[in-house]
Amino acid sequence: MTDSDRDERLTVVIFGASGDLTRRKLAPALFHLHRTGALPQMCHFVGVARSQMSDEAFRASLLEGAEDAAGNDSSWTEFASRVTYVAGSSTDDDSLRQIDQTVSDHCAGGRDNRLYYLALAPSLYPDTLEALGRCGMLDETSGFRRVVIEKPFGTDLASAKDLNQVVHSVVDESQVFRIDHYLGKETVQNLLVFRFANTIFEPLWNRNYVDHVQISVLESLDTEGRAGYYDRAGVLRDMMQSHLLQLLALVAMEPPASPDADALRNEKAKVLQAVRKYGIDEAAENSVRGQYAGYRDEDGVAQSSATATYGAIRLFVDNWRWQGVPFFLRSGKALSEKTSEIAVQFRPPPHTIFDNEEPGITPNLLQIAVQPHEGVHLTFENKKPGTRMGTAPESLEYHFPEGIIRDAYERLLLDAIEGDQSLFTRSDEIEMSWQVIDPFVESWQKSLRSQLFPYERGRAGPAAADEFLGEDRAWRMHGADGS
Ligand code: BG6
Repeated sequence: MTDSDRDERLTVVIFGASGDLTRRKLAPALFHLHRTGALPQMCHFVGVARSQMSDEAFRASLLEGAEDAAGNDSSWTEFASRVTYVAGSSTDDDSLRQIDQTVSDHCAGGRDNRLYYLALAPSLYPDTLEALGRCGMLDETSGFRRVVIEKPFGTDLASAKDLNQVVHSVVDESQVFRIDHYLGKETVQNLLVFRFANTIFEPLWNRNYVDHVQISVLESLDTEGRAGYYDRAGVLRDMMQSHLLQLLALVAMEPPASPDADALRNEKAKVLQAVRKYGIDEAAENSVRGQYAGYRDEDGVAQSSATATYGAIRLFVDNWRWQGVPFFLRSGKALSEKTSEIAVQFRPPPHTIFDNEEPGITPNLLQIAVQPHEGVHLTFENKKPGTRMGTAPESLEYHFPEGIIRDAYERLLLDAIEGDQSLFTRSDEIEMSWQVIDPFVESWQKSLRSQLFPYERGRAGPAAADEFLGEDRAWRMHGADGS
């Protein structure tokens, strides 16, 4: 950040400020950025929500979420003095004018840059964007106006297109920051470094050497009181369309020619475009779904709910590099551990000269631990010590040191403030992702309930997901304990 940037006024306006996201993620991230001097010196934060609350009460609610980060730190007091609360609605012109006035007052005629963060119920996005446009609050004459939009962006292709249309009717794509917090994770960005700052993996990164790829995002928590939302979303809309497809795009894309946001996003978009689009029957054949025991007893969930809390899908990327290589994506809630991992399973050697007992040679495996125990593991064959020429699998591994990984929201908020869109999803990526996921949603909605496999809480998920991989393949997991 340059000195002149530091002299600019920045206001981060959070719509939906009384919600969980603001308290748990945004406030701690903004506080940490402020404390480390990453934000412009003249930076203010305005929280907006419907409930009546004083500035003091709002600040206290933020501190609850940021306590770990804040401790007894005196810089919290300094940060809190920059926080204001406005009670109002993001879709109401009078409220917006009051917010506009509050922000302009802080700027006192100086340059007035603004980041609007929509931490709202997604159904409010269109009306909020239109109201911001109507009230002139997206006009960039006196400073930049950027809009951060949380996921889910739409609920299917048609609604995502409608929302993109509303977005583009009030702002330019360059002002839009559609958040997928997985892209803010250090290990997800490390995928780019791992692939494109090393020469030894790239020649092998294709159908000639890779048998299949697994992308797993497993959670031990259940729907955590969000069942009302979750029951309409399920695992496909909540996780697959966004986080898992973004991971797939980063694993499968061609090297971008530059680090520019558009160069990167063009390559991701090409992959998403090349993902085979199934018909409804093919989607059924290429997926398995499950629901954890007790899900239907949660508040906001009907006793007849067929929402999948676990899903595994098989995708193919129809291009020269990946033709015929299955990409298995799986995600679920209430499982035995919280682990996100990418496994690239290489093919076995074409011929072996070693006299191994069954199961013979273990093919090479590369595991990228997204979280926890963030790092990389490479399994390779090694001579089994002894008088015979046998082999056994061993591994090389790297873990990021404990405590240095920052929360994804910090990086993403800073990027949005600095106008770097690399780690945000572009409108075409979102639409292509829905095109991939919609047939699964439709097929799961139409299928008979019997195909929804129940699974016990705290276990590995439905057994059908293991069979789904096919013979000679198994889900590969380094595991939450890093072992
Ligand atoms: C969110 C989903 O996008 O990601 C949640 O809505 C899920 O259901 C969460 O729990 C997982 O994120 P993380 O960073 O904890 O893996």
